Amino acid sequence: MRLDPINLHDYEARAKQALPHNSWDFIEAGAMDEMTTRRNRTAFEALTLRPRFLRDVSNRKLSTTVLGSEISFPVMVCPAGGHKIAHPDGELATARGAGMSNTLMMLSTSSHYSMEEVAGVATSPLWFQLYHRGYELTEMLVHRAEEAGFRAIVLTVDTPVPSPKERDQRNRYENPFPLGNFRATTEQMPEMSGTDEAPNWQPARVPPLTWQELEWLRGLTSLPLVLKGVRTAEDAHVASESGVNGILVSNHGGRQLDQTMSSIEMIPEVVAAVHGHAEVYLDSGVRRGSDVLKALALGARAVAIGRPLYWGLAVDGAEGVHGVLELLRKELDQVMAYCGQTNVEAVEPALVNIPNGWGPGRVAG
Ligand SMILES: Cc1cc2nc3c(=O)[nH]c(=O)nc-3n(C[C@H](O)[C@H](O)[C@H](O)COP(=O)(O)O)c2cc1C
Repeated sequence: MRLDPINLHDYEARAKQALPHNSWDFIEAGAMDEMTTRRNRTAFEALTLRPRFLRDVSNRKLSTTVLGSEISFPVMVCPAGGHKIAHPDGELATARGAGMSNTLMMLSTSSHYSMEEVAGVATSPLWFQLYHRGYELTEMLVHRAEEAGFRAIVLTVDTPVPSPKERDQRNRYENPFPLGNFRATTEQMPEMSGTDEAPNWQPARVPPLTWQELEWLRGLTSLPLVLKGVRTAEDAHVASESGVNGILVSNHGGRQLDQTMSSIEMIPEVVAAVHGHAEVYLDSGVRRGSDVLKALALGARAVAIGRPLYWGLAVDGAEGVHGVLELLRKELDQVMAYCGQTNVEAVEPALVNIPNGWGPGRVAG
């Protein structure tokens, strides 16, 4: 009998076998030379742990909160467009898997099931990820998300132009399913005809959302606002001055701008810049429980996973998403014990060695 996957790499290998080539490439690719995607891993590997022993670690608390919502451990599910490419139940399966693990799922604007359908099956907290594609669309999406019970709006800020993923260009990849949040519209809206990842949306036609319009966005809803994709002290500083409630430090898994820094490298300067005024989270490259612990030690409150959710879906639907999350939980619990840590909300900063040369050329005040 075949062994169950024992780590996320096993899920990745099995998903690759299960998925059609072009869908696999769409999920796995990074932008251009994929340097940022690789760096997300090498930077985690460059951080070493400084374990502490002879402490009582028999009880370890993994649960925490994000913007007041309880989650059973500090690993969440990233927003990612279109889960039907990995499993026919798409985001419904992902929401069920996240629910089985009692953790939070962020739902993409570009999901295949609508936000109302996903909210209908979710048993754990949901945040709605917003792509701004025009003021009226944004207003409609934010109001629907609030109505459907989503607990925060996550505005993705790092996609001003279509993604230069060359594998998709070579494969002439096109998203094969309609977008769930726009199914009720009689004609396919040109602004929404692709996802951020597809080459067929027309950003030039979209009225911009800048720091100036954030106030307008905040005025649309009483929900807290998280910015996804901020990765410099300068932008983090403006964000916290603007009253943003959370920052998800992310480089989109290296799928947008190539030749940028990894997310984990940027955590220290972003945490320093917000002075505790906003919660800081991380995604991009998290594959092991030790990655989670490293991010927490550097000041992140929680992390999130992107590609691994597709691997779980492709291997075993909702059970697979749950399986991926539970492996990370097990590994986090184990590495906490090894490192003398008993509470994810009070991880010691001295737990990691930070390599020389990390950090910005210049940090905003
Ligand atoms: C197939 C795919 C689709 C994605 N779609 C979106 C999206 O619609 N909105 C968004 O903000 N991020 C999107 N992302 C980025 C993820 O939210 C996340 O930043 C990234 O996957 C994290 O890196 P990791 O894959 O290394 O865990 C997508 C990622 C993947 C792999």
